[in-house]
Amino acid sequence: MRLLAGLLVGVCLVRVSADLVLVGGGLADDNSDVYGKFVELAGGVGVAKIGVITTASANPLESAIFYEALFTELYGAASATWIPVTENSGNADTQEIYDLVAAQTGLFLGGGDQARIMTGWRKADGTASLGMQALLEAAESGVVGGTSAGAACQGSGPMIEGGLSYQALRYGAYPGGYNPDYPDDLCYDERGGLGTLKDYIVDTHYSERGREGRLIELVLDTMTGDASTQKALGIDENTGVHVDRYGNAKVLGAAGGAMVVDLREATHVEGTYTRLQGVRVSFFTEGDAFNLYNDSYTIASWKSNLAGQEYYDTAPTSSNIFSSPDANPREDGVFREVATSLWDSKEDSCVSDTYERNPEFVVTLSKSDGAGFGGFSHDTTTWTVSYARMAVDIDYQ
Ligand SMILES: *[C@@H]1O[C@H](CO)[C@@H](O)[C@H](O)[C@H]1NC(C)=O
Repeated sequence: MRLLAGLLVGVCLVRVSADLVLVGGGLADDNSDVYGKFVELAGGVGVAKIGVITTASANPLESAIFYEALFTELYGAASATWIPVTENSGNADTQEIYDLVAAQTGLFLGGGDQARIMTGWRKADGTASLGMQALLEAAESGVVGGTSAGAACQGSGPMIEGGLSYQALRYGAYPGGYNPDYPDDLCYDERGGLGTLKDYIVDTHYSERGREGRLIELVLDTMTGDASTQKALGIDENTGVHVDRYGNAKVLGAAGGAMVVDLREATHVEGTYTRLQGVRVSFFTEGDAFNLYNDSYTIASWKSNLAGQEYYDTAPTSSNIFSSPDANPREDGVFREVATSLWDSKEDSCVSDTYERNPEFVVTLSKSDGAGFGGFSHDTTTWTVSYARMAVDIDYQ
């Protein structure tokens, strides 16, 4: 009876599944929360047939050999097969690639440069190749995962291709993709990425590289007033987000978190540079569940509401809020650190600024009507904080 029930569940999963596992890059080989979940969704140990897509990589074959070994030897996939589409292979629009993609139970896109993915999989006229159609069908009725570039290409909005937060706030976002003459400017492909994650722009290596400013700016510069274009998801390194077909999302792994950036309530104030009030950001960490489309969330049970239980009397501030690469020494994850400490403090808001001057951007974080949660996860001694609906105001001086 139990076996039968298991079989029925298995059959149902194969038919109704439409799962994404998006990872913010820097995925450790031993991150079984992420890899294990992906293999499980793809059918499980001994069953999963993983298609490995390494189009983003500068060394696609080398990268494929790495993932093939990882999926089969460490995570028990029945098979792992390289889908040999590279930036210049010109084969994505063939029946052979369509069939190879369609034969897998899970597809995993590795990191590198997301522009290579779109060059390799889109037809010259910008439309989807046969292979890309198979990939999109897999996202509708199967399992697709990706890390770094392999996740950044999955949003339905404009696809981010590069840029730093300070330059983004100062100069705005540029369509047309990466421009080597201005490597620090925020640039994007206005044709978008694969579009498997509906109504979201996706960014990766998120807190570590201080990308909060650039993601907010990209939403600001590309939103249309339509509520579906006003949100973005930023994912930290070695951290996964599993999204099901209903937009139910769950954070996988203890390393970092995922931020939902929401400009629906934001006010854009006129100025030479970016001035914004009331951007809402929520940051979910290990074990938290949230819905991407209706704002509901359920914090992991081992975290509790910090209101009235805060550890610090005062919140920290920073003069390098977006972790500038020019700061010496470099500081990773400053915004995450400041926001986390704000929620664990008795203060309601804190004011930080950018490392760069002329102008110097001033970033105010406020608890507003949001909520913060903290706890020690069962298998680590790391204090982990999540928060919902923190307000971010950006000004300059
Ligand atoms: C949000 O959407 C999910 C998935 O459809 C659903 O289960 C949940 O009840 C919804 N929550 C609210 C508050 O509407």
